[in-house]
Amino acid sequence: MIPVLIGKHVVLGVTGSIACYKALDLASKLTQAGALVEVIMTHGASQFVTPLAFRSLTHRQVTTSLSCPQSEHSIEHVALAEKADVVVVAPATAHCIAKAALGLADDPLTTTLLATQAPIIIAPAMDGHMYQNPATQHNLEKLHARGMTIVGPDKGRLASGITGIGRLIETQQLIGHIRAILGRNGYLANKTIVISAGGTQEHIDPARMITNRSSGKMGYALAEAARDQGARTILISAPTSLSDPVAVQVIKVETALEMQQQVNQVASKAEALIMAAAVSDYRPKTTATRKLKKDSNSMDIELVKNPDILVETKGSMVKVGFAAESNDLIENAKLKLVQKGLDLIVANDITTPNGGFGTDTNKVVIISKNGVEENFPLMSKESVAHQILDRIRVLLDKFSPC
Ligand code: CTP
Repeated sequence: MIPVLIGKHVVLGVTGSIACYKALDLASKLTQAGALVEVIMTHGASQFVTPLAFRSLTHRQVTTSLSCPQSEHSIEHVALAEKADVVVVAPATAHCIAKAALGLADDPLTTTLLATQAPIIIAPAMDGHMYQNPATQHNLEKLHARGMTIVGPDKGRLASGITGIGRLIETQQLIGHIRAILGRNGYLANKTIVISAGGTQEHIDPARMITNRSSGKMGYALAEAARDQGARTILISAPTSLSDPVAVQVIKVETALEMQQQVNQVASKAEALIMAAAVSDYRPKTTATRKLKKDSNSMDIELVKNPDILVETKGSMVKVGFAAESNDLIENAKLKLVQKGLDLIVANDITTPNGGFGTDTNKVVIISKNGVEENFPLMSKESVAHQILDRIRVLLDKFSPC
């Protein structure tokens, strides 16, 4: 479940493209995340996939015509337009985009697009030349000017066999856009949250480095959760294999010093700083410009201490740290809370099965500076992220003048 999607009416317009099969995945993932997905299919779409497929995935009626005899609503298109929290057209063909640009209303989807007050996302999918044709570009500009959000298309292999622009954007990216739009007026709207993620890399020579086992998943989950609550989110990321979250400003760094420099640039304007990164405590005193050779039986590398980013970042923002420990979890975490001048520390025992580096779950204790200690069961990193942000929200409410 994804909090910003739970109970939200997502009207999903599906038009006639081979990319319709991806809309099935989108409908399924949105439903699993807690959204109420109301599918409207054009005649063209039902040539590619059946309404039954969408009904089976969403457990809801699928609208295919303006007079839908089995509908619970008397005027279906208006009913869907009114109850929509967001309308998403994916895939959107050149034809559907042209009809929407002209304001035509000859099927349930175009009628809904005219009647709704909800935000609209258009995800084009078509042949590259059709997409690049000035007619399509002009139509998309018109829709954009009317306030619709155009996402994609991506470049890649198209159904025609050629490689070019025109692919429907990936489901996870599209869901990112839907989440960002649904959350934009959330509790953290107008707040800036800076989050660090991943394990920093300290270079020994051009081939080798000192790093750690952090996957970045916790920091990335925090960035998505902050964005979902409307925050202007800045993610300062050490190298990870994760995709950049949608609608988040991502700043890529490698070393602890680079991370500190970037945190310094942005943190002074932020309401909160969450250091989820695993920052290397030491770095090689010098980085060799050539690959070191194994010409002796032992080797010493002199290390020097990196600055403590949390300690050295000054300002009135809410500061949150993590304490990944293998022993004496609470004692160590409380010490760091005090020594680093934090408002909250998130302690986790890295020896807990499925609770350490690289997993999708985490088992944490959140300790606040006033001594409150909250012990959570094993949860998804997304759920942990929401718990942390809920507490930051409360702290920000306390600080802000009425
Ligand atoms: N941290 C930081 N700068 C550093 C090291 C850590 O800002 N140079 C932050 C981490 O991002 C984390 C918190 O401090 O939020 C605690 O990091 P951790 O690695 O658990 O502790 P350290 O302070 O490095 O102490 P130790 O390694 O001795 O446990």
